[in-house]
Amino acid sequence: MTKILKQTIGNATLYCGDCLESLQEIEGFDAVISDPPFSSGARTDAGKSSRGGMLRGAKWEGDWFSHDNMATHGFLYLMRLMGVSLLDKAARGATAHFFIDWRMYPNLYGALESSGWIVKNLVVWDKEHFGMGTNYRNQHELIIYAEKGLAAFPTHNLGNVIRCAREKSLNHPTEKPVALLKTLVAASTREGQTVIDPFMGSGTTGVACALLGRKFIGMEIDRRHFDTACQRIEAAYGQPDMFVQHALLPAA
Ligand SMILES: C[S@@+](CC[C@H](N)C(=O)[O-])C[C@H]1O[C@@H](n2cnc3c(N)ncnc32)[C@H](O)[C@@H]1O
Repeated sequence: MTKILKQTIGNATLYCGDCLESLQEIEGFDAVISDPPFSSGARTDAGKSSRGGMLRGAKWEGDWFSHDNMATHGFLYLMRLMGVSLLDKAARGATAHFFIDWRMYPNLYGALESSGWIVKNLVVWDKEHFGMGTNYRNQHELIIYAEKGLAAFPTHNLGNVIRCAREKSLNHPTEKPVALLKTLVAASTREGQTVIDPFMGSGTTGVACALLGRKFIGMEIDRRHFDTACQRIEAAYGQPDMFVQHALLPAA
């Protein structure tokens, strides 16, 4: 077992290390909201190793992150083990949201379902504008929604297409918008409950939790991104903001 660095910031407990090892250290949580490495760099497994298919913003040209160039069997192995460990530690009625793209969606679905998570829906994140490329340029990402048993806090009155402009990716090559994460956190947990993100990157899920008064457990294998997450989450706990962008949530 490699050494894991553990840090507490506000109501967040953050681990720098492999999530499969860090998961052994935790007690429990009410919800998972995570954006795993899609390992979707090309249309074929051979192409994935040459990292040919996915384009990143100029700032992150050539800067790839850990475990994002696995072949499908590596991805399946990691997701299946993660799914099993998460299910074991999750409270009864816990919910889970996992970001994924169209290529790797069937693989992640299978890994989660075979781990015991009950897959209940597929949410589309509409980024409002399309990105680079040809043949239907990408404008969406997908979010698999799953439950452990019957959800203790089911999402109400929220459609499964959520529109939210993408982030400029200043902190991480695949940074997600805080407004989107706040919507998912607010829709699936109550104040004071605990959310986990085993692949936190620059800590966007943790930022949303801090702003909305949730506890957070975050894990990240890369020290650079871990340090960024620590800084962002610390700043967010210092400036709580319970406002969830109105356009992303239905009228009360
Ligand atoms: C898609 S990114 C998450 C980006 C994040 N949503 C954000 O807004 O910054 C996935 C992250 O998982 C990390 N990662 C990959 N394999 C990991 C592992 N086995 N354990 C923990 N973190 C891992 C990568 O270093 C990467 O930063």
